[in-house]
Amino acid sequence: MSTPRIDLRSDTVTLPSDEMRRAMASAEVGDDVYGEDPTINRLEARAAKIFGREAAIFVPTGTMGNQIAIKLHTRPGQEILCEARGHIFNWEMAMLGWFSGCIVRPVAAPQGILSWDLLEPMIAPSTYYVAQTGLISMENTHNMAGGTVTPIAAIDEICAQAHQRKLPVHLDGARVFNAATYLGKPVAEITRSFDSVMFCLSKGLGAPVGSMLVGSKDFIDQARSIRKALGGGMRQAGVLAAAGLIALEQGPARLHEDHANARLLAEGLANIPGIEIDLATVQTNIVIFDVSGTGKTSSEIAAELKLQGVLVGTVNPQLIRFVTHLNVSSADCKQALQSLRTICNTRVSV
Ligand SMILES: Cc1ncc(COP(=O)(O)O)c(C=O)c1O
Repeated sequence: MSTPRIDLRSDTVTLPSDEMRRAMASAEVGDDVYGEDPTINRLEARAAKIFGREAAIFVPTGTMGNQIAIKLHTRPGQEILCEARGHIFNWEMAMLGWFSGCIVRPVAAPQGILSWDLLEPMIAPSTYYVAQTGLISMENTHNMAGGTVTPIAAIDEICAQAHQRKLPVHLDGARVFNAATYLGKPVAEITRSFDSVMFCLSKGLGAPVGSMLVGSKDFIDQARSIRKALGGGMRQAGVLAAAGLIALEQGPARLHEDHANARLLAEGLANIPGIEIDLATVQTNIVIFDVSGTGKTSSEIAAELKLQGVLVGTVNPQLIRFVTHLNVSSADCKQALQSLRTICNTRVSV
């Protein structure tokens, strides 16, 4: 069995660069619970500036950032509208029920792209005898829909309509820099209408650890208190912020390479008999495709790929997910396609 060397499971598997490791080793640090870590303070100030907001806070994970935002925007007993395949609903350990006392009213959207027309009928009527809608949460790019991008016009309309009804809108922007790259716009512009934004340093941007929550000064002051309550007061975490700063400054500029590699994978997959892929959904660095026509399950194919040194993720028995990132080259993608062709027993050339 060969050692796995092409890891397409997620963009979370990236390894810190030598430059990041050097910056971590020499980072100026202090106790961040006292607000005395200069590297954390620099990272938070940079994130706020890049997003055109008053303030930002460093959190260990995207999950913690989302859950702090949900806690601050809602009251127990409320409903949260989010897309049916959304991360906050499906992958955050039911924390919005556990920690914030809310439930999700899921809204299924084609390609994971919400619109006001889909959301409006799901808002609870304002009467005393039904649970009230407390928050709309969006995800851009949408992970489980295949890295799809919600256009700015749809975001601005949803936020404007929600705000008229005094409803806050949060963005799970774990991969918002991928969305910005696809749209060719700055992140500040594509997130301007949200009340709060979480984004991850530890995915496509390449940091080993960390996410940011950005918003108004008042909101982030309160977020600091909730982060502490969750055990997220991290003391000399400047060693992590040092890598985060490099990810934030340098990561976005190369995301188009990951998108090109995802496109290369998608177009190759479309030529493999038995594999079904909707090329229109491949907009950023995620490729989700259906293997049922091959006569094998996704787990069987994933296990065979692993034997050939290619690691991939399964979404369900039919669907496989590939994610491109800075530690995957176009040659790796071609190699992964070749392995898959062999497994599917086809003779189509690259
Ligand atoms: C869309 C989305 N939101 C949030 C998260 C949570 O990030 P973390 O793994 O840092 O908690 C992820 C992680 O994969 C994600 O894909």
